[in-house]
Amino acid sequence: MRIDIITIFPGMFEGPFSESIIKRAVQKGLVEIHLHNLRDYATDKHRKVDDYAFSGGAGMVMMIEPIDRCISKLKLERLYDEVIYLSPDGVILNQSLSNQLSLKGNLILLCGHYKGVDERVREHLITMEISIGDYVLSGGELAAAVLTDSLVRLIPGVLNDETSALSDSFQNGLVSPPAYTRPRIYKNWEVPDVLLSGDDKIIEEWKHQKAIERTAKRRPDMLDN
Ligand code: ADE
Repeated sequence: MRIDIITIFPGMFEGPFSESIIKRAVQKGLVEIHLHNLRDYATDKHRKVDDYAFSGGAGMVMMIEPIDRCISKLKLERLYDEVIYLSPDGVILNQSLSNQLSLKGNLILLCGHYKGVDERVREHLITMEISIGDYVLSGGELAAAVLTDSLVRLIPGVLNDETSALSDSFQNGLVSPPAYTRPRIYKNWEVPDVLLSGDDKIIEEWKHQKAIERTAKRRPDMLDN
């Protein structure tokens, strides 16, 4: 998988991409992540990427030309499955969408800012708009990092134990059951006996039961459909 991220703040990805799972996935060659500074595609010497809205009103709008130049250059180099704009009014990201996108080969993620992008970008250059939740971020960068993380961990070989992504919350329509580690007793707080029974079948049944109870209590909406 290859992910090309178009942003005016490439530095915002340094932390998230240089640690943990994403770092290892890149090192193993399981994913390529390329950051493109939109200002490199500006046409003037001030590297301008935004301008006043025609309608007036507050806020700058990201111009179409630098975005088009960057996307067009990438599209000349390879075929892309989706060109995704991160936006609070896109479709809300969930595990099912992450699963689908993790099967794709090449993706472009466009991070917006200010009052958004010129509408013609959305009409002509973007194939999909994704929101990571009903709240407004200062820009699409953190959302692009969240989306990238959720995709990369699903690529076969990225997680050490392949089953661990399959047992994630949401992957089977349920949240995860509780987990415990040593010590068995801490300040009188005990690990449930069943987990120490050594009986795999009973333990699996217990975990499944707990997952159902938790889902019913915390996310009843997930059981509705
Ligand atoms: N840009 C600003 N807010 C966002 C959100 N909630 N999801 C995706 N992109 C965004």
